[in-house]
Amino acid sequence: MAKLKLCILISGRGSNLQSLIDACADDAFPAEIALVVSNIDGVQGLERAKKANIPTTILSHKDFKSREAFDATLSETISRFDVDLLCLAGFMRILSDEFVNHWFDRLINIHPSLLPAYKGLHVHERVIEAGESHSGCTVHYVRPDMDSGPIIKQAKVTVEAGDNADTLAARVLEQEHIIYPEAVRLIAEGRIRIENECVVIDGNT
Ligand code: GAR
Repeated sequence: MAKLKLCILISGRGSNLQSLIDACADDAFPAEIALVVSNIDGVQGLERAKKANIPTTILSHKDFKSREAFDATLSETISRFDVDLLCLAGFMRILSDEFVNHWFDRLINIHPSLLPAYKGLHVHERVIEAGESHSGCTVHYVRPDMDSGPIIKQAKVTVEAGDNADTLAARVLEQEHIIYPEAVRLIAEGRIRIENECVVIDGNT
């Protein structure tokens, strides 16, 4: 069966990109990365992509007058490649409604909280500040409202006594690296349907 072709969008370190590169290195994994796009030059994620011989494109948002103009060029750039699914992996840009609607149901994101709790930035600081006993991470389809959309996979992490934002982030990140490839696999295997904005996974009892 043909593999699902991925475009991974990054802005930095790219450890989630690396987890997808590593998953795709297995011949049996049903997806492959066709393109990595970064909105910031010189980031570690670009090095990871180059090392894996994946085509990269840098598109700086600073070169555009508006969010819409950047997003339109981003869409055109990605469309030149034959891709089936866009994966946001630490891509720190809010996307316009036009972009999200163009890639509707072909655009997923990973977020370091148990959505719908703790949307936005500085998640781990806020989780600790609130005295939560648990946190985690979420892979979800992207909808125009920030950090919203049908949830594909989540992993829960215990907040330990003495955790700070960095220690909690590190434990959540370990789980991110597990659930992102798992979510991509489910999509690539055609096991996901969206019904009434909820994900239904075929074969789950
Ligand atoms: C990850 O923790 C990811 O969940 C988060 O940024 C980090 C990127 O790390 N994304 C968001 O906060 C998006 N709202 P990485 O570059 O090492 O994958």
